Amino acid sequence: MKIQVITLFPKMFPAVLETSMLLKAKDLGIVEYSYIDLREFGQGPRKQVDDTPYGGGDGMLLKPEPLFAAVERAKSNDKDATVYLMTPVGERLKQKTVRSIAKEKTGMIIICAHYEGYDERITSLVDRQISIGDYVLTGGEIPAMVLVDSVVRLLPGVLGGETSAEIESFSDDQTLEFPQYTRPEEFRDMKVPGVLLSGHHAEIEKWRDTHSKKADN
Ligand code: ADE
Repeated sequence: MKIQVITLFPKMFPAVLETSMLLKAKDLGIVEYSYIDLREFGQGPRKQVDDTPYGGGDGMLLKPEPLFAAVERAKSNDKDATVYLMTPVGERLKQKTVRSIAKEKTGMIIICAHYEGYDERITSLVDRQISIGDYVLTGGEIPAMVLVDSVVRLLPGVLGGETSAEIESFSDDQTLEFPQYTRPEEFRDMKVPGVLLSGHHAEIEKWRDTHSKKADN
């Protein structure tokens, strides 16, 4: 799966995407990350990417021309890719969205918006507008990393032989993970629940079920 991120801050990404499981996914050839620097498509000697809003108002908006050119570049690498725009007014990212994206396996082109907003015509390029929650961040970079992380970990082969991606939090039955413990059995007066040490699988399942929290997603 090709994942292309369009951003004014490409340097923000490698620290997150090229670490741990996300790096493993890349090393195994399951995903390929690339970063398209929106500034390269800026206009004039100052490579301008933003301008003031018609009708007045504070702040600057991303101009359409650089973003159209950047998306066209990304599409020339992967013509069937789905285009995502990270924006606080998008549909809220949920595990079921993540699962459907991971299943589709089509490439992703992710636009990170910035400044006070963007020219609305940009949305004509976009298949899906995604918000990671009801709060406003300074840009779409951190939301894009959240989207990539949540999708890549579900791609077959990324979590190795483990079934953890399937049984883990926010699975189909909307059950959150149950509490888990590892050694030692007792730490600072806090004991591991006896049933987990019992070896009775049916009892353990029952305990896990009753101690799982139900998600509101
Ligand atoms: N850009 C700024 N805030 C955002 C959010 N909550 N989700 C997605 N993109 C954003």
